[in-house]
Amino acid sequence: MVTPRAAMMDVRELTGTDRIEETPGCLLFAPLRLRSVTLRNRIMASPMCQYASDDGMPQDWHLAHLGRLAIGGSALVFHEETAVEARGRKTHHCAGLWRDDQIPAFARIADLIRQCGAVPAIQLGHAGAKASAHGAMRDWAKLRPEDAADGLSPWSAISPSGIATSRDGPDPETLDAAGIESVICAWGAAAARAARAGFEVLEIHGAHGYLIQQFLSEVTNRRTDDWGGPRENRMRFALAVTHEVRRNWPAHLPLFFRVSAVDGKGGLWDLDDTVALAAELRTLGVDMVDCSSGGLSGTSAMPIVPRVPGYHLPFARAVRERAGIATVGVGLIREPAQAEAALRDGSVDIVALARELMYHADWPVHAAQALGEPDPFTLFPESFAFRLRRREEVAGYACNMPADALPSDVVSKIEST
Ligand SMILES: Cc1cc2nc3c(=O)[nH]c(=O)nc-3n(C[C@H](O)[C@H](O)[C@H](O)COP(=O)(O)O)c2cc1C
Repeated sequence: MVTPRAAMMDVRELTGTDRIEETPGCLLFAPLRLRSVTLRNRIMASPMCQYASDDGMPQDWHLAHLGRLAIGGSALVFHEETAVEARGRKTHHCAGLWRDDQIPAFARIADLIRQCGAVPAIQLGHAGAKASAHGAMRDWAKLRPEDAADGLSPWSAISPSGIATSRDGPDPETLDAAGIESVICAWGAAAARAARAGFEVLEIHGAHGYLIQQFLSEVTNRRTDDWGGPRENRMRFALAVTHEVRRNWPAHLPLFFRVSAVDGKGGLWDLDDTVALAAELRTLGVDMVDCSSGGLSGTSAMPIVPRVPGYHLPFARAVRERAGIATVGVGLIREPAQAEAALRDGSVDIVALARELMYHADWPVHAAQALGEPDPFTLFPESFAFRLRRREEVAGYACNMPADALPSDVVSKIEST
């Protein structure tokens, strides 16, 4: 029988990631090499849309938000989903990289993340039929002509078959063959811009019911040409996008792909489909499949994925074992021991956190402490680490001794702290 540990090594050999030597320490804090990029640990700050961009460009808010995550010790810090075309944004305030003059705003973000010790990463996406909406805090209500008075004019969304993904909006346009080719080119151009901005990892957003998933799932793809029908045709768009992105993204940099391992409640795309897709992605040079779920609902018997701790980890494990590709797992990962177990049991190669890091940006440092890592503060930039190490030393004495019994070197440290 193949042990989970052995399975993990097989995957690394297949994907070109480094073998992990048996280590007495935690896997969560073991570095991971992916192509030319070395991650200082296995913690990824998952992409999180902020709805705070201006004309596609990230603002000071993004610097603060992503800087906080990089300072907190995550190895890989993702800039939110960034649209490859203006019409591929969900909202007017989503990020986008559809023009060259947008690159400097992104370069500022990538530089800051790197300066804070993390690897800067970016997720590219296209909302397809889910475009032209208000944000999450207004439950994705579709923009209406009357929203123009607030500077929020609606625009025409695109989709594989003109099928709306929500009940309250106009039907999206159906892409013709030339339109599909032009969207694929837009993905490649945006990937090249992301490289010029200095990002070192790129993720294709193929999940959450956006354009790629709209092609994958029969819920929204009813085409009868080469882009629809049997699964191999429905996968064609995802694979063409991946091919184009890989062609435009430097060969020495890693490429991730986020999947909805299964559609949402009543959907049609299932885990077997995802395994088949992941195997194809591997041959196209994808290094990691990032396993999420949902985004498209239908009328089948497919159940909703219950939101229990680590709810996507079983999908990630199945993809890893059956498609032979490294995986990221996301979804209610909050406990250090849970994260370590997911790596040890062969479910994932990287754990991704979103809401926990919003709440607790320095979760990696606390996780390192909880798991008994020798110098947890090393995850912070040195200016923080120096002060905090000194505070620990001083606090250790100060709790246990009266002030006049403290050794002189400790007193001098207290005085200089
Ligand atoms: C504020 C917020 C914004 C998000 N934006 C994105 C996004 O841009 N792209 C994406 O793939 N997922 C996005 N997600 C989903 C997260 O990346 C993550 O998959 C999900 O929140 C589950 O992880 P968690 O339980 O650790 O929060 C977002 C989640 C939150 C909370």
